[in-house]
Amino acid sequence: MLRISVIGTGYLGATHAAGMAELGFEVLGVDNDPAKAAALAAGRVPFHEPELPELLAGHVHSGRLRFGTSLVEAARFADIHFLCVGTPPGRNGAADLSQLYSALEGLVPHLTRNCLIVGKSTVPVGTAEALTARIAELAPQGISVDLAWNPEFLREGHAVFDTLHPNRLVFGVTTPDAEWALRQVYSTPIADGSPVVVTNLPTAELIKVSANAFLATKISFINAMAELCELTGADVTLLADALGHDDRIGRKFLGAGLGYGGGCLPKDIRALIARAGELGAGEAVEFLRDVDTVNQRRRERVVRDTLNLVRATGNARPRVGILGAAFKPLSDDVRDSPALDVAKRLHSAGVEVSVYDPAATNPARAVAPQLIYTATAAAALHEADVVLHLTEWSEFRDLDPVFLRTVARGGVIIDARNTLDPEPWLAAGWDFRAFGRLVERRTTPSLAFPLPDSVPVQPNPASEPARALVTPSPLTRLRSRVRRTA
Ligand code: UGA
Repeated sequence: MLRISVIGTGYLGATHAAGMAELGFEVLGVDNDPAKAAALAAGRVPFHEPELPELLAGHVHSGRLRFGTSLVEAARFADIHFLCVGTPPGRNGAADLSQLYSALEGLVPHLTRNCLIVGKSTVPVGTAEALTARIAELAPQGISVDLAWNPEFLREGHAVFDTLHPNRLVFGVTTPDAEWALRQVYSTPIADGSPVVVTNLPTAELIKVSANAFLATKISFINAMAELCELTGADVTLLADALGHDDRIGRKFLGAGLGYGGGCLPKDIRALIARAGELGAGEAVEFLRDVDTVNQRRRERVVRDTLNLVRATGNARPRVGILGAAFKPLSDDVRDSPALDVAKRLHSAGVEVSVYDPAATNPARAVAPQLIYTATAAAALHEADVVLHLTEWSEFRDLDPVFLRTVARGGVIIDARNTLDPEPWLAAGWDFRAFGRLVERRTTPSLAFPLPDSVPVQPNPASEPARALVTPSPLTRLRSRVRRTA
């Protein structure tokens, strides 16, 4: 049975280590942070990821999964070493690869047998080739070390599922032995139908960054359309639905709203721009700067509208209640979180900001202690002049707008994620706003044609559309003209 080490046990490495144990391997996870390694060794996951605590604790207790801090131990233990360390943004957005180099420097000189090192971290194209040269310098005499690149595509919040059931496996390899070894590691998902793409090192590196760049582009595309929808009275959610019915386009990642954030999409797109510039191909990815700009504009837009609303109240100490701090639901990750960014900017502009998030309160408080954090959504909305829905946790869809209307001071909610049903909020008297989405009370048909005599016609109190709560749209104006002229 192959023995596996996983070097770097952050979000990616901890999940990968537990996933490898679940696939039947003996696994050693190594981290240079003793506190993190100790927590994992005790079966505790130091971040929020559904299903991971149970999976990890189960394999720690069975003895198949261990954690420690020694790369020397990893070198002696494993046949395959997965590199899962961070590649955070460095100068000018380029990826900082120092953790990769120091992992190799701690590992390779201590190897005692031939092995395969597999990079999973997201890296600029060309990195694996440079690492291959460094490995050759570091390897002990007579030890053969192969390097492969096997990028990770897991989504936070679904990391366990994505690890055990990858929607594709990419093997960037230079030898048949490396491909063979990776096919052994992933034999279960391959047997379950996960497709395998075998390629060279630069293609594997580029596949990962271009996947994230494409996802970011898709989100900014729909957000750019949302800007046009707002000006023209079109509805971006219906536009996205209609586009999504074309299976060449697909509906996923066409959720217009506050835009993307997190530890991957924003960083990877900037690193790709930086790398393309180094390669003299800056023009080829120039459009990615616009993708980034559109994304930033969403945050600015929410901040601007909110400040206009709170200033209009005339309150000396305006208050905004915020639903969500994590960069997306099912995660407590606040790295480049659009929600927290908006909250911090409002606070800097003199607004009192209270935030509720089902999972991310502690990480948010660590980086933004100036905000007020509450234990419930209702507490965050207490005496709020404006309410912002910034992270689309499913529990926010079940809030009681009638009760919350008695808690908040002002009655305005901005659904910056376009995932709340406006109807109950409007019915409870809220001024419900959204960006690029038409917000109107649902109406029953207005019976514009005569019914047979036998059907009693009831007056329909709901037939008058509520005022459009986005800027009155041309569509609404057209409808009222039609009503007037009918
Ligand atoms: C992303 C990729 O989706 C993964 O495939 C990849 O493995 C991972 O980065 C990585 O490089 O490690 P993740 O960062 O977990 O995964 O988040 P996503 O689910 O991609 O969401 C990113 C952001 O886009 C979130 O802020 C989300 O709210 C936003 N988003 C997503 C939208 O604004 N609209 C959408 O329609 C979808």
